[in-house]
Amino acid sequence: MSGFTKVARAADIPEGSIKCVEVRGHRIALYNLGGTFFATQEMCTHADASLCEGEILGGEEVMCPLHFATFNIRTGECTAPPADEDLVTYRVRVEGEDIEVEV
Ligand code: FES
Repeated sequence: MSGFTKVARAADIPEGSIKCVEVRGHRIALYNLGGTFFATQEMCTHADASLCEGEILGGEEVMCPLHFATFNIRTGECTAPPADEDLVTYRVRVEGEDIEVEV
């Protein structure tokens, strides 16, 4: 089963920040990049670290807090080691003040 589910309010995620949510058993990181919202799997593909505790680098990359791999937030592509697998990404839409993610 898939569909969009409300996960947060836009005001909860200021520009340049990351918020963790859980949707139907999926742990997801939500990002606000310049007013546009994106979603990836929460956990780094390298080991057991939450990207919600990572840092958004200038542009559109997130850096893992544990061993500093980087990923493109829009595409999930791994852009620096030691991770070598891309992140799962999720479609996001904004309905009024609500952020919805497709799972
Ligand atoms: S856990 Fe993310 S780079 Fe190692």
